[in-house]
Amino acid sequence: MTEKKGIKIVTIGGGSSYTPELIEGFIKRYDSLPISELWLVDIPEGEDKLNTVGALAQRMVEEAGVPMKIHLTLDRKEALKGADFVTTQFRVGLLDARAKDERIPLKYNVIGQETNGPGGLFKGLRTIPVILDIVQDMEELCPNAWLINFTNPAGMVTEAIYRHSNWRKVVGLCNVPVGMKMGVAQMLDVDADRVHIDFAGLNHMVYGLNIYLDGENVTETVIKKLTSGEASMTMSNIMDLGWQPEFLQSLGVLPCPYHRYYYQTGRMLEKELEEAADKGTRAEVVQALENDLFELYKDENLRGKPEQLEKRGGAYYSDAACNLIDSLYNDRKDIQPVNTMNNGAIASIPNDSAVEVNCVITKDGPKPLAVGDLPVATRGLVQEIKSFERVASEAAVTGDYKTGLLAMTINPLVPSDHVAKEIFDEMLEAHKDYLPQFRHLEVTQ
Ligand code: G6P
Repeated sequence: MTEKKGIKIVTIGGGSSYTPELIEGFIKRYDSLPISELWLVDIPEGEDKLNTVGALAQRMVEEAGVPMKIHLTLDRKEALKGADFVTTQFRVGLLDARAKDERIPLKYNVIGQETNGPGGLFKGLRTIPVILDIVQDMEELCPNAWLINFTNPAGMVTEAIYRHSNWRKVVGLCNVPVGMKMGVAQMLDVDADRVHIDFAGLNHMVYGLNIYLDGENVTETVIKKLTSGEASMTMSNIMDLGWQPEFLQSLGVLPCPYHRYYYQTGRMLEKELEEAADKGTRAEVVQALENDLFELYKDENLRGKPEQLEKRGGAYYSDAACNLIDSLYNDRKDIQPVNTMNNGAIASIPNDSAVEVNCVITKDGPKPLAVGDLPVATRGLVQEIKSFERVASEAAVTGDYKTGLLAMTINPLVPSDHVAKEIFDEMLEAHKDYLPQFRHLEVTQ
């Protein structure tokens, strides 16, 4: 009798400080998800981190007594051969580039954020060519694998794969929906399994259309608790400045933490400016956190995920990733919110665009649940961001200056065409080492 082959997983950006979360998730699910090989891949600049995280991963696996072999490599192609699942969690330009995404817009009194506004655009411009390269390698080396992308901006990245490659086995994943579900459970003081949320929208722009507790619709109760100040719901990386009660009550759906940048732009900007001057932008705060985490990871007595990792915004991301992989592998047909092709689920978004929506997760991929349409008060913003993502991904692929500037200008966080150009030019220069597709401009200027 031939033994059933174990699962091969490849994690690109394996040297990330988040990796122990993922390892913990895989270990917990080993019985249903028998991973025989986990390949952690990184680039030469990340080699030290990869070695540190890899050694911790090895200790975690030994401690748990699971026969999962950990491989560390800088050779992506070698790793990808015959993979079953490829997860991506890399950051092009590392945290230095994120700090620029956050700081430069602030100079122009514009929100500086890694996935929204100008920062989100430039993160997309840096990331999309790399993900398309990875997809090309996958076509050759592991054509049957699923690509599970957490790399931000996850919605734009998923959109770019649909629009600019033939690869369809991709799922974009984010921890925001699971964070919202946990937040509601905490607020209602109940077990998270009893809460169900109808999620629909885009990545970092997702709404909870209906919230149920044991099947009873409790959306109004949740909104009341949020607006009365009785409860708060956000993530470690986003400030909670409270909601204007009448607004949220009449909106009638639960916004995600990132919606604050759109509905509270002025106040969020003020706070960001204060914080940047005081303790630095989020990238700078995260850099310090990461340094501490890596010091902890080096400790040979550490054999599990340290608590301090919870200070990062990505809480529950490993749960989301591991549950998704488990359901794809075991054809569980359970419901999970993921980024996938719309296929008519949300009427006002093109069928072939990426949306973040509840799906039934089968071995053939996520099957989106039909929403009908978004409430009219939310629809316009979602469409505007979708247009931005589409234009931005085209700019990322073509390296066309005017297309990039167009994306910047139509972003709702950018106040005018002239400011857009100033920010665009400054960011293009600041990030030029990571934007090879725009290099032709240097010759002609
Ligand atoms: C949230 C988002 C993630 C993002 C993270 C940033 O959880 O959903 O997409 O990567 O925050 O957290 P950080 O600790 O890096 O600021």
